[in-house]
Amino acid sequence: MTVLVAYASALGSTREIAQHVASRMAAALGEVECRSVDEVESVAGYEAVLVGSAIHNQAWLPPAVQFLSQHAPGLAERPVWAFSVGMADGLPKLFRNRGAVLQQQRLEQTQFQDVQLRGHAVFSGVYQASQLPAVLRALFRLTGGRFGDLRDWAAVDAWTDQVTAELTKSDLP
Ligand SMILES: Cc1cc2nc3c(=O)[nH]c(=O)nc-3n(C[C@H](O)[C@H](O)[C@H](O)COP(=O)(O)O)c2cc1C
Repeated sequence: MTVLVAYASALGSTREIAQHVASRMAAALGEVECRSVDEVESVAGYEAVLVGSAIHNQAWLPPAVQFLSQHAPGLAERPVWAFSVGMADGLPKLFRNRGAVLQQQRLEQTQFQDVQLRGHAVFSGVYQASQLPAVLRALFRLTGGRFGDLRDWAAVDAWTDQVTAELTKSDLP
């Protein structure tokens, strides 16, 4: 079975999550290719596709949105999972859980209309203080926001194993 893990990443943290997912999955399934969405010409050669994007301003990066619409017919014929990488765990505590739920809902309502997903995970990524202007940075910290590498590799592994288990079921696609 050949699985594609495609990603769109602005600063690299989503790419590293995609590479981690792909290598963990390869250990269980054999052939898994990890590519930037820009590099994928067709999904025809893959039995399943995982596609992930960094979240910017409550939306996927444009190349990932384009990937979904450009490959919609091919994606409709195979199982597809999505993952989004944002900063939910860095939000001030007051908004953290509610903010994560609302963002996930918004992404599902706005980004995935062209494709039927088997699942969608949202992971925390890397959010650096230098990404915000000084005033907003101070405000963010004062209200309990956190910067740093907030990636939860155990959560990524658990999701990868869940997708792998679904892929090894015999009734695909
Ligand atoms: C300009 C900008 C906008 C962002 N907007 C959001 C957002 O709306 N929601 C969110 O959860 N994270 C947001 N983030 C956080 C990033 O998604 C997070 O840092 C992620 O790890 C970036 O992935 P990348 O390193 O692959 O680019 C934003 C980051 C930047 C730089």
